[in-house]
Amino acid sequence: HGGVVVVFGSVNVDATSYVREFPRPGETVHSSGFRVALGGKGANQAVAAHLSGARVELIARVGDDANADVPMRTFAAFGLATDGVAAVPGEPTGVAQITVNGAGENTIVVTAGANAAFGAEVVEAERERIARGDVVLTQGELPTATIEALSVAADAAGARFVLNLAPPVPVAVGSIALADPLVLNVHEARVVGLGVGLDDDARPDAWRDAAASAVGALARSVVVTLGARGAVAADRTGSWTVPAPDVRAVDTTGAGDAATGTLAAMLAEGRPLPEAVRLAVAAGALAVLRQGTVDSYAARDAVLGLAERMEDA
Ligand code: RIB
Ligand code: NA
Repeated sequence: HGGVVVVFGSVNVDATSYVREFPRPGETVHSSGFRVALGGKGANQAVAAHLSGARVELIARVGDDANADVPMRTFAAFGLATDGVAAVPGEPTGVAQITVNGAGENTIVVTAGANAAFGAEVVEAERERIARGDVVLTQGELPTATIEALSVAADAAGARFVLNLAPPVPVAVGSIALADPLVLNVHEARVVGLGVGLDDDARPDAWRDAAASAVGALARSVVVTLGARGAVAADRTGSWTVPAPDVRAVDTTGAGDAATGTLAAMLAEGRPLPEAVRLAVAAGALAVLRQGTVDSYAARDAVLGLAERMEDA
């Protein structure tokens, strides 16, 4: 195994408080704990792809402040190469203020910092690395011009472009069209016009049909993640519903990133989309069992093992 996944990714420092219930406006509540750790959808997905067995090339921007130590130390601890991670002079490292409630749900406020200074010129400078990718992966936390330039560069290099449009920023339709797959949660899906009229707890098969009708029209292939209910996927060859195993969520923060990073790694090693999605759903389910993002991600063997049991079920 071991395909190459090139990640153009956001990096944040996550400052997370754990509460029983979210505070309402004007309310003060006590948290039962606080942690500071690596976050950012790009960094999280890069770590997940790495743990899933891919050779990961992370291109990212941190600030020139003390907060940058958190990502740099964490990348080193996971054995992720950082030669593509540069500090932007005069910018702070991206920060996410996160609150997790007793049900494992979260609210997140992101201050982009250095991620907003990650310009499209980096795509030009990193052409060689892009060309080495079996998969080129990015998310909605970088400037839209950078995402758009990357989609074109990845396509020109013959790499498979995987776009996780989270958050759902207004990227040119021509760039979304190159995504293979476009990875969305139900909220993001509705923003791009997929599954409009379906509510959050619509039948997974209804989401599968919506994904199928978007193939070719919206993107080359589509994956919609349904949280605790799994995911649906569609490409030119068919469409699939992948239910998630029953787990008790402690912290869902970054679980979608565990799934997306694993998906990219499995596609990069040549697995077909429905199989990669099953492994992604397994990785997401394992990530909700513990607090934090990357510290809660499972190793490749655990993901493969759970996916096999899901298949048997
Ligand atoms: O998807 C979870 C991530 O979103 C967090 O790590 C936070 O940094 C935000 O980017
Ligand atoms: Na977690």
